[in-house]
Amino acid sequence: MSHERLNLDADFLFRAFAELGVIGRNPSGRGYQRLAWSQAERDAHQWFRERAQGLGFEAWTDPAGNSFADFSGGASPDEPALAIGSHLDSVPFGGAFDGGLGVVAALVAAKAIRDQGATLRRPLRLAAFTDEEGARFGTGLLGSKALAGALDMDLVRQAADQNNILLKDAMARYGFDLEALPSTHKLLPRFFGYLELHIEQGPRLEQRGIATAAVSVITGIRHLRLEFFGQANHAGTTPKPERRNALRAAAEAIAAFSRWVDNTDNLVANPGHITVHPNATNVVPGEAQLDWDIRSPDPALLDQAVNRLTSIANEVAQPFQVTVRHHGYHDVPACAMSEPWMRLIEEAAGDLHLSTTRLVSWAGHDASVLGRVIPAAMIFVPSRAGVSHAPEESSSDSAMLDGTRLLAQTAFHILTEEGAGL
Ligand code: GLV
Ligand code: MN
Ligand code: MN
Repeated sequence: MSHERLNLDADFLFRAFAELGVIGRNPSGRGYQRLAWSQAERDAHQWFRERAQGLGFEAWTDPAGNSFADFSGGASPDEPALAIGSHLDSVPFGGAFDGGLGVVAALVAAKAIRDQGATLRRPLRLAAFTDEEGARFGTGLLGSKALAGALDMDLVRQAADQNNILLKDAMARYGFDLEALPSTHKLLPRFFGYLELHIEQGPRLEQRGIATAAVSVITGIRHLRLEFFGQANHAGTTPKPERRNALRAAAEAIAAFSRWVDNTDNLVANPGHITVHPNATNVVPGEAQLDWDIRSPDPALLDQAVNRLTSIANEVAQPFQVTVRHHGYHDVPACAMSEPWMRLIEEAAGDLHLSTTRLVSWAGHDASVLGRVIPAAMIFVPSRAGVSHAPEESSSDSAMLDGTRLLAQTAFHILTEEGAGL
């Protein structure tokens, strides 16, 4: 089946991407600092809403701080809408493309669909989710979890950043009430499904010379904190056998568990954050907090890994007379994307003469939360050298255009063809 091609405004794509690219840029030029509920992230949301309003769409914000913009295209505004978009927050020293490309592409795709003039069977909704990364408060996928009704309010109430600013207070600064987060879920019936364009954030597409991918499964993710308790003491005078060095125990746990991970397929684990107390060169560290990010698309393997990590940590800490506690604070199950929507992406790629494949996503995305409650699918385009979550993150102009075309074409199909994507 061949479908009408949309006319994409390439100038608008690159202009809008450049406009967003000045918001939250580190003054040093080293990437972006658009952490959730920072002024920069809120400025990016405002930019998005104004840009969408400029196209004639109706912009609004939900109680979780997600921004949306609706285009009914002749459909009843009461019909559930197809949402397309991504997120606008970044990790510390993150890149311009992670999230940003998907939001800008959604604006460009919506403009193309509006300009084409067809009557839509259901409305189109542009989406910019908040706090996808979780880099500031440890509350990743906050906006999509609120919409999906998947929030753990006990964790959310305790969430604080490294300056001990509570999420609750950071939200209140912009007029949002943390206790209203669960009410976001009431809006879910207004969503028909979710489609997101994202950079791959890994090297597979570039290495294989493939232009696009439909994501098959989004990995499961656990964040686990190990706390090591020893005894702070003098770095010179404490006899060696009596040193209860919490940092050494943490280091052994990193080495031992990483060796197990290196020999285990279909699983990755990252010891990405450590806090040492009192963190002074001439003091034996009395406490260490080590945060792990563990991922696998296989739920049983993920469980096994978490058990393995905690038992290894207890084992290696013993010779140092260090005790260990652990708790998980982020648990996102793996999520398969909609098979019919993957096929729509593949069909649209065929219409556009774009090579395509299917890939597991080892990065987390809002689609993994939304995909549990509504149909969801994702399109990937190549990342240069596979680098992401770093200032060097980049994709070529042609990858940006290919991805945006494929997003627009797939969305148009779902919006206009009877039974599409059901
Ligand atoms: C988000 O980008 C994640 O995969 O952690
Ligand atoms: Mn992302
Ligand atoms: Mn990211």
